[in-house]
Amino acid sequence: MANRTFDVIVIGGGPGGYGCAIRLGQLKQKVVCVEKEEVGGICLNWGCVPSKALIAASHTYEKVKVHGAGMGILTEGIKVDSNKMQDWKAGIVKKLTGGIRGLFKGNGVELLMGTARVTGPRSVEVKTAEGGTEVLEATKAIVIATGSSTIEIPTFKFDGKQVIGAREAVSLREVPKRLLVIGGGVIGLELGMVYQKLGSELTVVEATAGLLPGVDPECTAVVEKKFVKLGGKVLKNATAKGYEKNADGSLAVKVDLGGGKFDTVVTDVVLVAVGMRPNGAGLGLEEIGVKVERGFVPTDPLGRTAVDGVYAIGDVSGMPMLAHKATKEGEVIAEVIAGHKAAKDWVSIPAAIFTDPEIAVAGLSEAQAKEKGIDVRIGKFPFAALGRAMAADETEGFFKVVADKKTNQLLGVHIVGASATDLISEGALALEMHAFLEDIGLTVHPHPTLGEGMMEAAMNGLGHAIHVLNREAR
Ligand code: NAI
Repeated sequence: MANRTFDVIVIGGGPGGYGCAIRLGQLKQKVVCVEKEEVGGICLNWGCVPSKALIAASHTYEKVKVHGAGMGILTEGIKVDSNKMQDWKAGIVKKLTGGIRGLFKGNGVELLMGTARVTGPRSVEVKTAEGGTEVLEATKAIVIATGSSTIEIPTFKFDGKQVIGAREAVSLREVPKRLLVIGGGVIGLELGMVYQKLGSELTVVEATAGLLPGVDPECTAVVEKKFVKLGGKVLKNATAKGYEKNADGSLAVKVDLGGGKFDTVVTDVVLVAVGMRPNGAGLGLEEIGVKVERGFVPTDPLGRTAVDGVYAIGDVSGMPMLAHKATKEGEVIAEVIAGHKAAKDWVSIPAAIFTDPEIAVAGLSEAQAKEKGIDVRIGKFPFAALGRAMAADETEGFFKVVADKKTNQLLGVHIVGASATDLISEGALALEMHAFLEDIGLTVHPHPTLGEGMMEAAMNGLGHAIHVLNREAR
């Protein structure tokens, strides 16, 4: 059991951990990143990226099959080859994880495959993938970047085939004839809509009164409309209680609809997507005095935990559980550890939801601004009024800007529509720059692009958008 010493030990190689380790390497710190499964974490291996590959593939299929004829593209015998789709997706994952390994090498970061346990404020024990044990010492810091895990429902224990989580759902080599999703949140809708487009009959069981809780209901309504148009069924204020296996192998799922009413939904596969649990417990943290609350490891704006030299970033350090938040925290905390002046200090952490159409959010919603007692000015612009959206046959959705009525300072941006997840970055930058509606509206946006919608929405807020009638012309 040889002791090895590093400046920093990063536990977890997901977007938080690998980003932190790379930045530490750039800052000339001697760093080791310990990872128990595969570098890239959930995001690269079975979350963000693989799901986006399947979303793109299913979108292409639907686009050609359903919209092609209207555009003059006639196809015959169009088919889905799930195996080929999976192999293509796996190739992307391999390229990306290989890329991270390359970046580690190039930045002098050591990757140690194994399971880490914190044994002191500066020491970590690793059960290595080869079956050995290594004791690592840190002269400066330990960074906890252990992410989160899928929540399981006791009556729907994963069997890997018919009762699955997101990990298995991105790896299906056969499109289920019927799919029931428990949880109408981000994963449930993103992956549910993939299989819906590839041919599954989809039912979503959602415990609350609406899909995507927390998202502006005006945006959610656009997605729900498309979901229903594709033949999907949503059971709201409903919970799945359990299931029985039918003689033909299908599953009869009992759903509590509330008020003493029940329904039975017959399905081939159940996808459980009811949230993620932070991975802060069982790492030895509490034993050395680090606070762990319901799996989260609370930190201050410098990423510090209750114990000097122990930091936490990403999903395990708090909400929102998003890859880009983890990476940014990793970069910032690397600077802190290297002795630079840095802190978590941002106006917004944008959200990007890859439903059809996409939803993207930065900053406050109309409701949140009102709750803060702010008198708001709203600007809106529909995709249907954008020439570029028409030319792409992607006219669903709108841009919505929320601003302070007194000053016109931008408070939030909400986009539902094609490429919303790319378009939101302008809104995020505008918020970081403390921009006003005039800043966005007076910026020349190229024509014909979807980005013009941001400019027009800002101008609509000001009362003089050109391509839509303004509620209050000024
Ligand atoms: P989620 O929190 O987004 O949604 C879970 C949904 O399940 C909620 O609508 C909740 O009301 C519902 N629910 C909870 N218990 C239930 C029950 N027993 N029966 C029926 N419904 C129930 O969680 P999800 O979709 O699992 O995603 C986990 C996390 O992963 C998200 O919070 C997000 O941070 C991250 N993620 C982000 C993505 C993105 O940004 N594009 C994509 C995928 C995941």
